[in-house]
Amino acid sequence: MSAKLLRPVAIAGTGKYLPEKVLTNADLQRMVETTDEWIVERTGIKERRIAAPDEATSDLAIKAGRDALENAGIKAEDLDLIIVATVTPDMAFPATACFVQKALGAPKATCLDVSAACSGFLYGLELARQSIASGSAEKALVIGADKLSAIIDWTDRNTCILFGDGAGAAVLTPAGEGTGEILSAYSGSNGNLDEILHVPGGGSRHPLTAENIGSKANTMKMSGREVYRHAVQTMISAAKEAIARAGLTSDDIECFIPHQANLRIIETIADKLDLPMERFFVNLESYGNTSAAAVAIALDEAQRSGRIKRGDHILMVVFGGGLTWASSVVRW
Ligand code: COA
Repeated sequence: MSAKLLRPVAIAGTGKYLPEKVLTNADLQRMVETTDEWIVERTGIKERRIAAPDEATSDLAIKAGRDALENAGIKAEDLDLIIVATVTPDMAFPATACFVQKALGAPKATCLDVSAACSGFLYGLELARQSIASGSAEKALVIGADKLSAIIDWTDRNTCILFGDGAGAAVLTPAGEGTGEILSAYSGSNGNLDEILHVPGGGSRHPLTAENIGSKANTMKMSGREVYRHAVQTMISAAKEAIARAGLTSDDIECFIPHQANLRIIETIADKLDLPMERFFVNLESYGNTSAAAVAIALDEAQRSGRIKRGDHILMVVFGGGLTWASSVVRW
């Protein structure tokens, strides 16, 4: 997907929320046959956050959204658009974005969810950018939020060690004097590879019934090695595409913010792009893979910690079930 813009668009502020409860590798060692050593060596993850039983995805999204609005200095009532990227909506409908609207008080906003798994935040960011660029919206809130703990099989060591819960958000406005600008975006999908990462049950294909609930069809199934291979290939080509569309080279990018799935995936990408790891922002050791939230949380931490400064070029690149992928270059 690519298009000419009628006016430039900026990220005016970012935010995040992580649930309080920490689940460490030592905790997982007591739940499945694994070790802290194996998890750290194969993934880089040390701990992740888990939402409380009464905390739904919208509860995470609302807190991240509020944080981003405050950071941007924008009022919820001025929002024209709220997009929540999630594969763990509160319920089939209303959209999780409608619950965010209700809690924040944003009566003017059109509210919708985007389902693109771990790529959802960048899909949402580009939809919001196009809405603002075309003039159909002035101010948009994009949130990546997932409570993956609700769809994890906690007896499957292949998946349960990888994921965590969280939310990250960004507020978009037209670019102006003193703001940055989203310079490029690229995205793609490959529905032929649906089965390597999916939750087969719980939708209209295999609704949950008293008979099939025992088969755990409502939890994530993953072919780890295959996903790994596609993640590396796809994120490398998506990164190159977004950089080229921005008219830049990888040397111009001060900070790479990749999907936070596995440290080895990020190290391989750095190696293949011939870039030092210091140029990559990594926080997966603390949160694991938070799906649609991961790159949004990382963006917020990178900007608040001073890792990215006004005028820097940053590249975000993501990959997820679908398969889906996306990338974007932003001048901060
Ligand atoms: N603890 C200990 N051993 C484990 C384990 C765990 N948590 N999970 C798997 N193993 C075992 C496997 O059973 C296998 O044993 P076997 O050789 O006896 O069959 C062995 O470790 C190696 O498994 P393998 O799948 O080859 O490991 P890997 O190095 O590929 O790492 C992943 C597994 C899942 C960490 C890795 O494939 C990965 O990160 N894939 C991408 C996942 C991802 O990012 N998904 C989300 C995308 S958005």
